[in-house]
Amino acid sequence: MKIFSGWHRFVFGLALIFLLTHLFSVRELHTNSKMEEPPRKQLNKKLNHLVLGPAAGQGLSNRLQCQGTKALNRIHSSNSRSGVDGSITFVTVFTIYNSSLNDVDDKSSNTVVGNASYNKFGRSTALLNVFINFIQVAMPQSKVIILTDPVSDLSVLRNGVSLYPIEGEYSRDKLMLQRIRSYITFLETRLQNLSQKKPKNITHYIFTDSDIAVVDDLGQIFRDHPNFHVALTFRNNKAQPLNSGFIAVRGTPEAILRAKLFLQEVLKVYSTKYRNASRMLGDQLALAWVVKSKPHFDASRFGKALAFSEDIGGTSVVFLPCSLYNWTPPEGAGQFHGMPLDAKVVHFKGSRKRLMLESWNFYSSSLEVSDMLCLILGSGRTKYDF
Ligand SMILES: *[C@@H]1O[C@H](CO)[C@@H](O)[C@H](O)[C@H]1NC(C)=O
Ligand SMILES: *[C@@H]1O[C@H](CO)[C@@H](O)[C@H](O)[C@H]1NC(C)=O
Ligand SMILES: *[C@@H]1O[C@H](CO)[C@@H](O)[C@H](O)[C@H]1NC(C)=O
Ligand SMILES: *[C@@H]1O[C@H](CO)[C@@H](O)[C@H](O)[C@H]1NC(C)=O
Ligand SMILES: *[C@@H]1O[C@H](CO)[C@@H](O)[C@H](O)[C@H]1NC(C)=O
Repeated sequence: MKIFSGWHRFVFGLALIFLLTHLFSVRELHTNSKMEEPPRKQLNKKLNHLVLGPAAGQGLSNRLQCQGTKALNRIHSSNSRSGVDGSITFVTVFTIYNSSLNDVDDKSSNTVVGNASYNKFGRSTALLNVFINFIQVAMPQSKVIILTDPVSDLSVLRNGVSLYPIEGEYSRDKLMLQRIRSYITFLETRLQNLSQKKPKNITHYIFTDSDIAVVDDLGQIFRDHPNFHVALTFRNNKAQPLNSGFIAVRGTPEAILRAKLFLQEVLKVYSTKYRNASRMLGDQLALAWVVKSKPHFDASRFGKALAFSEDIGGTSVVFLPCSLYNWTPPEGAGQFHGMPLDAKVVHFKGSRKRLMLESWNFYSSSLEVSDMLCLILGSGRTKYDF
């Protein structure tokens, strides 16, 4: 959260530019991750260069084994899309306002990553671009839709990427609420479109934060779990078992309707019970509340990293382990005991944004996903400045 304090002052002090960078997920309660033991000395110091530390999980046969940034045991995934009934579109909320960009183009506040230097505006768009880059490498057939404020200054000219403006309240305080509203609006529109014209091919949706790297094909979620409406990711954390940064929705009209109703319920709980938390974790608390409100829901299943399904108020939900679908560097070392060999999504929460860009740069020059994962595993417990 500290990463935004400078920005915070900036907005309220100077009111020159308004970058909604907190769309990246930064709303994890640090107090809850008992397993997380970041090196004390570095706790408050944010570094401007990568620090490669020891990789967690060494010696465990089902975990990535690394020698420096060299992966010793991960077989590169085949990236096969055989049997996926349809295509996949990633949907993320991202908005940015640079109406006074000239006034803030102050070189002294620039951040250098590799051979590039970024101002505040550039930092946000660089992360968005890297988010897209990873998707296009891991899943070249997929598309990306960016839900954005109609008055946002965002422009993206890339193949397979489109902007989708949705009216709403994108102020800092309302942003996480707005994100759920935008998801609901998007699903509603999709449902209307499907009722008017039945497409030849089905399109599944994965709603994600934009600070993630997709490192493997995710089509198998829909293949391996053929009946779910909504997929969520869970971890072994009592207060926040569900992360809202990854929500998959099957592309059938029934599933889209069920997903919409489910999110409407989450929105209702959010607005009534967790309004005060709306800036930070309200959506995750509301998500957990809705899921746990199901009678006899067995929350002990969050303790094991095994997928399971449950009907929640008529919506068929599959729960996928974060260790594979939402692997996070800081928790990764402790909670997940290293990186599973088949981890598919890496989430650069909080102060790990620099690592996201450095990882992409590393991948661009090595073209080795596995080696890049060693870089992430070894460097992810440090807090960075980006
Ligand atoms: C804001 O930045 C985007 C992307 O660089 C650019 O296309 C747009 O013209 C800019 N808008 C203003 C008002 O400067
Ligand atoms: C719905 O259809 C309109 C008109 O074809 C299109 O512009 C829009 O992108 C579609 N929206 C969704 C969510 O599919
Ligand atoms: C639709 O699916 C068929 C069969 O799976 C495939 O051959 C075709 O390329 C797909 N079309 C589009 C536009 O994705
Ligand atoms: C929310 O915050 C307001 C003002 O800070 C407080 O009066 C109210 O009791 C809080 N509500 C909840 C549910 O905590
Ligand atoms: C900067 O680095 C990237 C990859 O690390 C490379 O693709 C690009 O060409 C470099 N740009 C310059 C100006 O050296």
